[in-house]
Amino acid sequence: MSLWRMVLLELDGMISNWTMITGLMVRDEDMNVIQHEQDCEFRFDYSRVYWNSRLETEHRRLVNKFRPGEMVCDVMAGVGPFAVPAGKKKIFVWANDLNPHGYEVMQDAIRRNKVNKFVTPFNKDGRAFIRWSANELLQTEPVTVAIQKKQRRSAQKEETPAPPAEVYKRPTLFGHYVMNLPANAIEFLDAFPGVYAGKESLFAPHTSTPLPMVHVYCFSGHSEDEVDDHKDICQRISERIGYTITPEDRVGGSGNVELELAIHNVRLVSPNKQMFCASFRLPKEVAFRQARIRIPIPCRFPKQDLSSTKCWRTSAGVERNTRSRSECWMSTGVITIPMNAIMLTCFLQLRNLTKTLDYLEVFARFKDEENIKAVERLLNSHTELEMFERSQLG
Ligand SMILES: C[S@@+](CC[C@H](N)C(=O)[O-])C[C@H]1O[C@@H](n2cnc3c(N)ncnc32)[C@H](O)[C@@H]1O
Repeated sequence: MSLWRMVLLELDGMISNWTMITGLMVRDEDMNVIQHEQDCEFRFDYSRVYWNSRLETEHRRLVNKFRPGEMVCDVMAGVGPFAVPAGKKKIFVWANDLNPHGYEVMQDAIRRNKVNKFVTPFNKDGRAFIRWSANELLQTEPVTVAIQKKQRRSAQKEETPAPPAEVYKRPTLFGHYVMNLPANAIEFLDAFPGVYAGKESLFAPHTSTPLPMVHVYCFSGHSEDEVDDHKDICQRISERIGYTITPEDRVGGSGNVELELAIHNVRLVSPNKQMFCASFRLPKEVAFRQARIRIPIPCRFPKQDLSSTKCWRTSAGVERNTRSRSECWMSTGVITIPMNAIMLTCFLQLRNLTKTLDYLEVFARFKDEENIKAVERLLNSHTELEMFERSQLG
């Protein structure tokens, strides 16, 4: 007799906060499963990738918002439960996941479900991917997909001319971003400020293309009045993008209608925790923001020339005597300067690297062997956990 057991899936990596989310039965010794969602088939080892059958309704809800021929950026795509069904509906998707196993399974699902003309997989850090992909998509060769509809046999016999092929041209700008990493996707929103800086002419009102919609998943408390959760979510988003969003900005509300804000209650995860999806149109003030950064510049003035005529005001409002900026060779203070492209790239790369390392430091899931072993040691010390449960956590 086969031994079966109930697998508990855990959602947010907190050992102390177990939640039974599905009664999926799997064989103890075999974690390889076949799952079907939205007429697509996924085959994977459950112990190595993220999968939650309870999100099927949510996957479907969001995919139904995309129109054929649109371009979607799925930043944390997992094995592709948004991306692959979207591809079947002739929606172009760039689907990314940091987990190399998730990426491999997604590649397989793309082939298996024959959506390779529409879905392209990537294996990068999500924050870096947001910045990189916006630029990359603008520069890559245009893609056109022509789909010839099958003709009925009777029509073939009658030699009726075949109907014209459906033609889809891949857009060079994303229409939607999907960010389903509820524990910390909001933190990745800081990749958006300036993502289209200097590219205003590509968007409305100069063209008919609106700025993209962002669909970011998050957890919030389970407040008695849901408005309190909405306020909390808006505040966290606002902090990351440096632009104020409030619950009044929702569709039909009294606030900023351009944001098209909607906060959808996905599901109750535990008595004190709900999963939400906040959707909003990226504000132009965020997308086109020119990076300005305060950096300390060590400067000092030539002693012999303090009486010179020109002066330079620092950000602290102190006037420094000097002949010109170029002559100001040393001083102390902080000045605000516009960053050029190279400086900005270096700064962002450094910041992304730090944040990625922070992430890996905490989760250590995909970093080096040493860290994986450290996590394994920690998880192994919890003898109550099964192998599968440990790998979901690790
Ligand atoms: C909650 S799962 C969602 C997966 C899929 N979108 C779904 O709906 O089932 C979150 C995914 O984010 C991925 N992930 C975690 N950190 C990431 C990062 N820094 N960049 C990209 N993906 C990341 C994980 O590997 C995991 O597949």
